[in-house]
Amino acid sequence: MTQYKGKKMPKRLGVTISRQIMDSQRLHPQATGDLSGLLSELIVAAKIISAEVNMAGLADILGHAGKTNIQGEIVQKLDEFANSTIKRRMEQCGYVCVMASEEEEEIIPVLDGYEGKYTLAFDPLDGSSNIDVNVSIGTIFSVHRKVTGGKRGTAEDLLQKGSLQVAAGYIIYGSSTMLVYSTGEGVHGFTLDPSVGEFFLSHPDIRIPERAKYYSVNEAYTNYWFDATRRYVSYLKEIDHESGRPYSLRYIGSLVADFHRNLISGGVFLYPRDKKNTDKPEGKLRLLYEAAPMAMLVKEAGGLALTDDGRDILEIEPTHLHQRVPLIIGNRKDVEMARSFFAG
Ligand code: AHG
Ligand code: MN
Ligand code: MN
Repeated sequence: MTQYKGKKMPKRLGVTISRQIMDSQRLHPQATGDLSGLLSELIVAAKIISAEVNMAGLADILGHAGKTNIQGEIVQKLDEFANSTIKRRMEQCGYVCVMASEEEEEIIPVLDGYEGKYTLAFDPLDGSSNIDVNVSIGTIFSVHRKVTGGKRGTAEDLLQKGSLQVAAGYIIYGSSTMLVYSTGEGVHGFTLDPSVGEFFLSHPDIRIPERAKYYSVNEAYTNYWFDATRRYVSYLKEIDHESGRPYSLRYIGSLVADFHRNLISGGVFLYPRDKKNTDKPEGKLRLLYEAAPMAMLVKEAGGLALTDDGRDILEIEPTHLHQRVPLIIGNRKDVEMARSFFAG
């Protein structure tokens, strides 16, 4: 614990996100600073989105009260706003060569002359169904190194497996705004102090608790589940005093928020295949900008992420940008246990 004049150091006098990024850059003398630059630009985008998310509620109230003078931007759908904020900031930062967003069908090129050496895949606003009802939403990001030779980035640069990510993380717009990220050296959480516009280290070196407290799944789909999913969820609900089961059910419907809670308090999240969405045979969540970045974070925090047929999420070779994947993610022991249910 950092000490300050013999007392616990106030968080505001502690480590800012920029200092943390610079400190970790210093540990790699060969680093050019490009990844640090990329993350710094992304953090600016996160602050802008956070401010807008906070204002959105207020705008709505004012809107109902007589549609007073709301800034043009606020009436924009928030997920479109988040998408264009990230896109516009990153396309001319010089650190990224190509991007992919949940909101865009095709790859997003960067401006001519600004091609950098990383790719960025992002879900600009995760948890859309919660946007209008003041429940936590988030932004997810995933960074890879450019692997093709040309000047411009291509889809091939984006279609790399999760184990090759150089950075991944999310911003959660919750009761406070937090940024949680990893560059492969643990997972660190920062909380935004909106009064000074700075992220301060609040959760250093996060480890997912070994014992789960929660399970998170949309149980309304029980009737559409395959037997293995039903049996696995029953296991999570079994009474077992040694493990602390049955776990409590928590399901927000924002992957970021559900994942964040389980990361801090211990738990398993699953979005398996089901028989409901025949047009989405692989479940709902997307590999590149939802499952893979969360899988990197959970692994760095001591947990595990698998598909519902036991494949390691981080080892899946993506074939297309918006590829979906069934996801089971959380504390290692319970996710490992899923293997025995989904094996046969
Ligand atoms: P998005 O808002 O980016 O489309 O993602 C929503 C996702 C994810 O955040 C959440 O876990 C899941 O959809 C919830 O889906 P159900 O409503 O089917 O449970
Ligand atoms: Mn999403
Ligand atoms: Mn989204």
